[in-house]
Amino acid sequence: MMQRRMTVANRTVMGVLAALVLAACGDKAPLPSSPTSTPIAVIPAPRKVEAGSGVFVVKEGTRLEFGDGVEGERLGGYLTDLFQKTYGIGLGASGNVPAAGVIRFELTGGAAGPAHPCAPGIWASCPSESYSLASSPSRIVISAADSRGLFYGAVTLWQLLSKQQGSFVVPVVTIEDSPRFAWRGLLLDSARHYQPPEFIRKFIDVMALHKLNVLHWHLTDDQAWRLEIKKYPRLTEVGAWRVPAGPAAAADIDPATGKPRLYGGFYSQEDVRGLVAYARSRNITIVPEVDMPGHASAAIAAYPKLAVLDRPSADVPADWGVYPNLFNAEEATFKFLEDVLAEVVTLFPGQYIHVGGDEAVKDQWQASRRVQARMRELGAKDEHEMQSYFIKRMEKFLAGQGRRLIGWDEILEGGLAPNATVMSWRGIDGAVAAAASGHDTVLSPQPTLYFDRRPFDTPTSPGRVQISTVENVYAFDPAPAAIGEAQRKHILGVQANIWTEHIRTPERVEFMAFPRAAALAEVGWSATKDWAGFSERLPAQLERYKVLDVRFAEAPLPRPVDPFHRTSHEMVLCTEKIALSLEDDAPVAGTRAVFKVDIMNPCWLFKGADLSKATALVASVGQAPFNFQIGDAVKEIPLHRPATPEGELEVRVDDCNGERIAVLPLAPAAGNFAVTTLPAASIKPREGLHDLCLTFTRKSIDPIWTIDSIELKTTRAAGTE
Ligand code: ACM
Repeated sequence: MMQRRMTVANRTVMGVLAALVLAACGDKAPLPSSPTSTPIAVIPAPRKVEAGSGVFVVKEGTRLEFGDGVEGERLGGYLTDLFQKTYGIGLGASGNVPAAGVIRFELTGGAAGPAHPCAPGIWASCPSESYSLASSPSRIVISAADSRGLFYGAVTLWQLLSKQQGSFVVPVVTIEDSPRFAWRGLLLDSARHYQPPEFIRKFIDVMALHKLNVLHWHLTDDQAWRLEIKKYPRLTEVGAWRVPAGPAAAADIDPATGKPRLYGGFYSQEDVRGLVAYARSRNITIVPEVDMPGHASAAIAAYPKLAVLDRPSADVPADWGVYPNLFNAEEATFKFLEDVLAEVVTLFPGQYIHVGGDEAVKDQWQASRRVQARMRELGAKDEHEMQSYFIKRMEKFLAGQGRRLIGWDEILEGGLAPNATVMSWRGIDGAVAAAASGHDTVLSPQPTLYFDRRPFDTPTSPGRVQISTVENVYAFDPAPAAIGEAQRKHILGVQANIWTEHIRTPERVEFMAFPRAAALAEVGWSATKDWAGFSERLPAQLERYKVLDVRFAEAPLPRPVDPFHRTSHEMVLCTEKIALSLEDDAPVAGTRAVFKVDIMNPCWLFKGADLSKATALVASVGQAPFNFQIGDAVKEIPLHRPATPEGELEVRVDDCNGERIAVLPLAPAAGNFAVTTLPAASIKPREGLHDLCLTFTRKSIDPIWTIDSIELKTTRAAGTE
């Protein structure tokens, strides 16, 4: 009922917003001189906006004023820094500046209640997050029931700022705002690739400016354990370091050790305390994830007694995918995990602790006589019940520490722990099941909210080939019909996940996060969907990224199709089983080529190749290590028998069973982990446009040979090579 009312109100507001923004930006007109058309490009869209006329001019000397009880130093410091850093404005500069206005923050004594379902126990204290902002030419007043609301009022104020005729102005406006959902999150995977604490601070800063409030921090996985645990120092001494996959990394010898250079890093408890406090001052709760019982290889490399296998690998592995390594079910292992969680709760004061629970393939438990005996002792009749026992036990431990457990939707299997919250990632089915059984849930489903998918078909950014655009994210329904009206109160909110297998650097994290995070923020915060309005406001958001020095993804204009030349990204994959945009295996330093390839079937179609004047085909190829744990699916990868030891690139015409028109031996490329242009192969011209099918023969799935680009040489161009 409440939501329906807000929906109607917001639609009206968005109409006004769209009209204002259109008036301001339409047809690339110069910035308007009439102050009444100052753009109101706030993201996420506020619940209610009433635009007035005139502006408040923000300048050196604009004073900040704080009502009773407001943490003026903290809030004022934040806002002053933000205005200084982004626009060079020195708010509250000393001295008597004539005609300078006042920005005032006031606490309202709890009048504005929370709009989202802030049930007792979700957060340590139930945050309001609501605020109102009223501006006139001389004064801006931001009021809220608590410091979170005031913070968001300050964020909105910053977004309202625009430059008009040389001055920074805030339009005269009245805003009433409150969020739709309590949980508005991003997952950052710091296990697959490590990001330094300075970057995480920056990421938190930018999240806060989207009114996102949960940083789900994925700290442990097969490929690394990144969180310092005092009681178990080997977790980070050993578990935080690995030799990256592939021959190039193996050949990169560290002179200090005489062994391959290790990749990695970890967060000390001091780092974590600093980051948690930093996030908290920006209304962001960090929810740490310690994944169990699967994704455990790094912990097992550090402490082999945790393993099911008698002799587990002593090295932290560098493959992506799903390893079969699970924690065993010994009392000592539960004790280890409880000890770890005991330190985790001292570091992370938020209510929720995430224990993973995903992708724990049960083969090792099934095959182990010892685990089977433990299952009988514990009364688990199958491996799902064993996992359920595991998670229930962790929940009990966390409850004893005053915390709540959250896990991926696999924790539903074998019976959900009594008070567990379910993060639904395999679509929304987990959320539907959780809500139906009276459990809280966060919607974070693939494919749409998986930000390791690329935002568009970009040739430079690695990631999953299938895309999830900013519009796809915006269209995501956070309260799907499959969850009945009565159960919707269990939807805590939404989250997008930035898995970093293929996102090696902080810059790439930013590229994958923004501006899709802006769409996510609006899905989680705003009561109404309005794609047209959002896209009108988006350019202002992109300008903000620029002033914040944040990299973001902006779709390039489509390029005309070239009938003579294609990169792998401009070709069609024959299949998209595990389709990735992958980096080559060149040494880590320096730029690396990025190829589009289905690792299950490296096969490309050059659609519409003009063969009428073609006399030769030039192929540039590269290679990437096959570092994927895909279980039995590996048997499905086709291998075509090579004629030469290194294999060949084969080119067929019209389809993949068509006439073979060229065979290019790979020998010249075999020792080169970067891109190699193979000697040209002669081809005979034939009339018209044809599809070319490109595949490799090879003895083994490793390396993955890939196309970088194909060029058709024509009679006209022949001899110019
Ligand atoms: C997941 O993507 N394994 C949660």
